[in-house]
Amino acid sequence: MARTKLRQHLLVSSALGAPTLARLVLLLLLPLLQAPPLGAEAHCPCHNPALCRPITHKPDFEVFVFDVGHKTWKYYDWSQITTVAFFGNYDSELLCYAHSKGARAVLKGDVSVKDIVNATFRASWIAQQIKQAKTQYMDGINLDIEQDVALSSPEYYALTALVKETTDAFHREIKGSQVTFDVSWSPHCIAQRCYNYTAIADACDFLFVMSYDERSLPWSKCIAGANSPYTQTLTGYDQYINIGINPKKLVMGIPWYGYDYTCKTLSEHHVCTTAKLPCKDAVHRQVPYQIIMKQLNNSYSGSLWDENQKSPYYHYQDQAGNFHQVWYDNPRSISLKAAYVQSHGLLGIGMWHASCLDYSGNALAKQQTEEMWKALKPKL
Ligand SMILES: *[C@@H]1O[C@H](CO)[C@@H](O)[C@H](O)[C@H]1NC(C)=O
Ligand SMILES: *[C@@H]1O[C@H](CO)[C@@H](O)[C@H](O)[C@H]1NC(C)=O
Ligand SMILES: *[C@@H]1O[C@H](CO)[C@@H](O)[C@H](O)[C@H]1NC(C)=O
Repeated sequence: MARTKLRQHLLVSSALGAPTLARLVLLLLLPLLQAPPLGAEAHCPCHNPALCRPITHKPDFEVFVFDVGHKTWKYYDWSQITTVAFFGNYDSELLCYAHSKGARAVLKGDVSVKDIVNATFRASWIAQQIKQAKTQYMDGINLDIEQDVALSSPEYYALTALVKETTDAFHREIKGSQVTFDVSWSPHCIAQRCYNYTAIADACDFLFVMSYDERSLPWSKCIAGANSPYTQTLTGYDQYINIGINPKKLVMGIPWYGYDYTCKTLSEHHVCTTAKLPCKDAVHRQVPYQIIMKQLNNSYSGSLWDENQKSPYYHYQDQAGNFHQVWYDNPRSISLKAAYVQSHGLLGIGMWHASCLDYSGNALAKQQTEEMWKALKPKL
């Protein structure tokens, strides 16, 4: 009754013209007044509201993909992808697309291990992640901490607690959600990351094992080598299994990028020595597979194969006359490692990162890109 009267009053007033401005302001404010409080259900960005529902289906085989925001995701092989981790800016189109393919979309989680020793801070950090996931309709979080932690330090225990509390909170708050944790190629304190790996594996849905950057370590000789050498990589998985981690908690992470080393000397036996001490600071840079494929075409060596490391590499000379050796992974080296996923019953496979490939549609590039995606597939 009162409402009808107000309405009539507004109509009459506006017909008179005077309060038009006030009415306009009210109309502009209305959506704000009606907007849900922050953290509650936000407006679904997908054309089909059903696409904002969390993914609850648990696949038998995980294909875990990192996206860094290059807008090439439409060309990924969505027939395989089960999870896409958003490591670029939030992209609602990607969220809707992933959900339309039944794939989970997960946040990137990174926090200082110094801060999480404080349980109050930890709880508020987790609450923030949950709030963001809900607002953005995400299905979980990939914890990418990658920080030094000393054995049995306060950070050592805090990290395990963080993973457990994050997993409990996500599972409770978002149906079917997934919490994962990125680990180095081996559980033996690689890069000063002495974590309680068995406890962390227990506390989350699975570990994404980063089987790359295996050369950029202090103990490496000052000789260029594979990013993800076959034997060392698989030894890392043996170690995870030997310390008691269920293979179904492990996803193999392979690189879709390589390393370009500037050689101080390059022997006729293809040994590239890098500038010394410490070797880890030797001149080398990451190169995505699509650049490698273009450069390989013009390299004077063409693709070579190292039988020891079961990895391809090539040489080129830059304009200043320096020799370079580039180590990378291709469908051949990836398939060899991926065979372990099946033979040892790992949960799945994934890569850093999906945007490294050439999705331009050029015929040769298209074939190379398809072969890289195909190399992930379990061979029957
Ligand atoms: C712990 O974290 C909370 C929340 O961030 C903060 O208010 C508090 O001061 C912190 N305590 C210590 C001892 O740093
Ligand atoms: C790691 O965590 C487990 C509990 O999941 C515990 O039994 C074990 O003692 C911890 N290891 C160390 C070295 O603290
Ligand atoms: C590779 O080189 C050949 C011949 O030089 C050229 O026709 C082809 O387009 C090149 N491919 C790429 C991907 O650059």
